[in-house]
Amino acid sequence: MKVIYLDGCATTRVDDEVLDAMLPFLREEYGNPSSPHVLGKRARRAVDEAAASVAALLGADPGDVVFTSGATESNNLALLGVFGHDDRAPVNGLFCPTDHKSSLAIGRALAGRGVDVRMMRVGPDGRIDLEHLAGRLDLHSRVATAAWVNSEIGTVQPVAELAALCHEAGALLHVDAAQAAGRIPMRVREAAADTLSISGHKIRGPKGVGALYVRPEIRHRLRPVMFGGGQYELRSGTIPAHLVVGLGKACELALARLEAERARAAELRATALDMLQAGLPGVRVNGDPRHGVPHVLSVVLPGVRGESLVSSLSSVALATGSACNSGSQEPSHVLTAIGLDAEDANSTVRICLDARMPFEDLVLGLDLVVERARDLAGVVVATGAQAPFSPS
Ligand SMILES: Cc1ncc(COP(=O)(O)O)c(C=O)c1O
Repeated sequence: MKVIYLDGCATTRVDDEVLDAMLPFLREEYGNPSSPHVLGKRARRAVDEAAASVAALLGADPGDVVFTSGATESNNLALLGVFGHDDRAPVNGLFCPTDHKSSLAIGRALAGRGVDVRMMRVGPDGRIDLEHLAGRLDLHSRVATAAWVNSEIGTVQPVAELAALCHEAGALLHVDAAQAAGRIPMRVREAAADTLSISGHKIRGPKGVGALYVRPEIRHRLRPVMFGGGQYELRSGTIPAHLVVGLGKACELALARLEAERARAAELRATALDMLQAGLPGVRVNGDPRHGVPHVLSVVLPGVRGESLVSSLSSVALATGSACNSGSQEPSHVLTAIGLDAEDANSTVRICLDARMPFEDLVLGLDLVVERARDLAGVVVATGAQAPFSPS
């Protein structure tokens, strides 16, 4: 049965062109990019070309790109790599409460070691309170970290302003751009981020590959977190040429399609929101769309348990919060951080619009979502019986 996929923030299908680019490196071009022979050299050339494509998407130089296994590893490398093993308070790091768990869990690990871990404050729109951050940074601050685009509500953070504040205090700014890559224009040099993570599978590339951008001027402040053959100065391990080539191709396509896809996502989002609001009274949007990406729509559906809605739909895929939260009954940490109570947080669903989906699929998918949501909320159209709200 066809599934209408509205969960592209969790992961995406590999693009056919990406797969085609990868396959030769699993078959005849299987050389190790570190080998000096002919097959190795060809693999190395492909890896270098992929680095150039990643760099072009980020607005960086190819030499600033380190390939990793994904954004989780990139976040670990950037955030653990700036602390020495014996660093303790007053040495500190600043974390954003709405960030992905792959950042927040690192904060917890650092706190467990005795580093002073400080939390930023976010407003109801999900944006970081810059004045508060300025007050939390001091000369012992090593790094602050924030997601450029939030994975649950799509809020875009003012990275250049964050970087300016951090640099003033002598701290680095790490940016988790797993949800930003291919979705918003990124000029990492201009934004002045020091390190930045991306992930292949969020941009129609393969799972298990990502990259860390490292601003060359601060490279000396980072150390490796795992040790081995030193394929990259900061990250050891045989370079998986097929995955890296896939990431490069995905970045190349994402850059070429960025503006067109943003415009189309905005149209789809408007339709999705209209349909939800017409079908279910009381629908509210989380976050502030003026500071959000066009493809993410996070909404409270009053009276509907997001978990029940998502798990009971057999031909529509959408999310309650981030995919990593979906196994837990706890209300999403992102939604509670922007001020939602547990009831609203548990009545939230996230719709991620795929700019390439046919319009009819969106309408069909949203029809099914609205119909099931009305059932779950106890809306009875025929009799006009109402619980907990009346049908529109
Ligand atoms: C903002 C953010 N950071 C990091 C990750 C983890 O990425 P990866 O699956 O590449 O480790 C995700 C995935 O959901 C994410 O949304």
